[in-house]
Amino acid sequence: MATESSRRARLYIDGHDDAIELPVLKPSLGNDVIDIGALTTKGYFTYDPGFVSTASCDSNITYIDGDAGVLLHRGYRIEQLAEHSDFLELCYLLLHGSLPSVAQRNAFVAAVAADREVPAGVREMLRHFSPGAHPMGIMTALAGALAAEYHDGLDIANEQHRMATAQRVIAQMPSLAALTYRHGKGKPHVPPRDDLGYAENFLYTTFATDENYDINPVIAKAMDRIFMLHADHEQNASTSTVRLAGSTGTNPYSAIAAGIAALWGPSHGGANEAVLNMLREIGSPENIDKYVAKAKDRDDPFRIMGFGHRVYKSYDPRATVMQQTCHEVLDELGVDDDPTLQMAKRLEQIALEDEFFVQRRLYPNVDFYSGITLKAVGIPTEMFTVIFTTGRTPGWIAHWREMVSEPYKIGRPRQLYRGEKAREYMPIEQRS
Ligand code: SDX
Repeated sequence: MATESSRRARLYIDGHDDAIELPVLKPSLGNDVIDIGALTTKGYFTYDPGFVSTASCDSNITYIDGDAGVLLHRGYRIEQLAEHSDFLELCYLLLHGSLPSVAQRNAFVAAVAADREVPAGVREMLRHFSPGAHPMGIMTALAGALAAEYHDGLDIANEQHRMATAQRVIAQMPSLAALTYRHGKGKPHVPPRDDLGYAENFLYTTFATDENYDINPVIAKAMDRIFMLHADHEQNASTSTVRLAGSTGTNPYSAIAAGIAALWGPSHGGANEAVLNMLREIGSPENIDKYVAKAKDRDDPFRIMGFGHRVYKSYDPRATVMQQTCHEVLDELGVDDDPTLQMAKRLEQIALEDEFFVQRRLYPNVDFYSGITLKAVGIPTEMFTVIFTTGRTPGWIAHWREMVSEPYKIGRPRQLYRGEKAREYMPIEQRS
């Protein structure tokens, strides 16, 4: 947690003789933080659209150094976790703050496996969506439906209830994802198998046409790593949404549904789907220069999807691991000359050499290569953000649990009001 340093920030405002003194908080890593809480009593708000310079909370879970391209989960680098750990162990780490012993790991894996069956009423909901319904809209609805099913008796002040909720939502998100995919394909529900791991069961319940479905271990490992690379990312838009919704004391499944809704946007988790749509629109390497020029044109809303990041002003460490995973999958599938991958690499090379991108420190982010990998695995484009949702679930619920486990305030930002001053009501007869 942050500690108050002896340092003070002194804010001098014209018209005030004395400075407003504000505490400077010292983090364990990263920027010092100025506590501006007292400003309201002095008659001031701060103004920071998009929260570019605002710390909304304190947290022990994940640390990002955007300039150095560092991502730590409870102090462990994502590169080391991706190489040596697996998704469920990372879920345990995010929730408990330390890596599990063998016994703790086995108990956690068993608890998740025991709670992955989705309530019948939620499964029944799927029948009412049209086959072309977008999977992210379905996932938002199904996660909200879990709130309806798991509300009575849920006491968020009870740590056992909180941890059970965390395990359950981690257990059921891949089941919801598989159900959503199969609904779109008009295929019946396939129950998970006890002899399969988390990522293997996701592939099995999603793609199996019969008990003999062959799970490629390279693909299963890649899927597990994709879940890991998306597991948590400090106070991104969807996690901040989960925290803000959760700060009202609402049902945690509802807060997760709000996070899914936020993740869907193409500026956030929807970028992986947008990367593939962009590459499809570019069509061929000959068109790349034209699209790079569009991305540089301030009057053109076109952006190179999968590039840029609010925090990373150097290479996103997840993108490096994602690119390696992409090569492993394409090599395994014998499609390493995949034209989409070739286009993506050419686009990356041009962008990384172009002054416009270099000056703005725009690098590929985790979404740039995840879409190509998922496409190669056979995941349809509209399901990419559903995969991101499954991966991000432990991060969302770990932040929710961290917040509600301590005394917390409802999130209620203020504003810079630019509207009309008070005026009298005018009867319609007097209006022009
Ligand atoms: C994720 O927050 C997280 O941690 C998110 C995430 C997570 O794990 O939760 O990491 C997941 O969402 C990754 C980002 C996925 N989104 C995309 O790939 C969409 C494309 N990227 C852009 O939309 C943009 O880079 C954002 C939204 C990601 C970041 O936007 P910012 O921080 O608000 O940056 P900005 O818009 O202020 O850009 C600074 C400059 C601008 O140019 P100028 O006004 O200075 O001339 O860079 C330009 C932007 O126009 N710019 C781009 C660009 N991204 C920024 N120009 C072309 N192509 C791009 N992709």
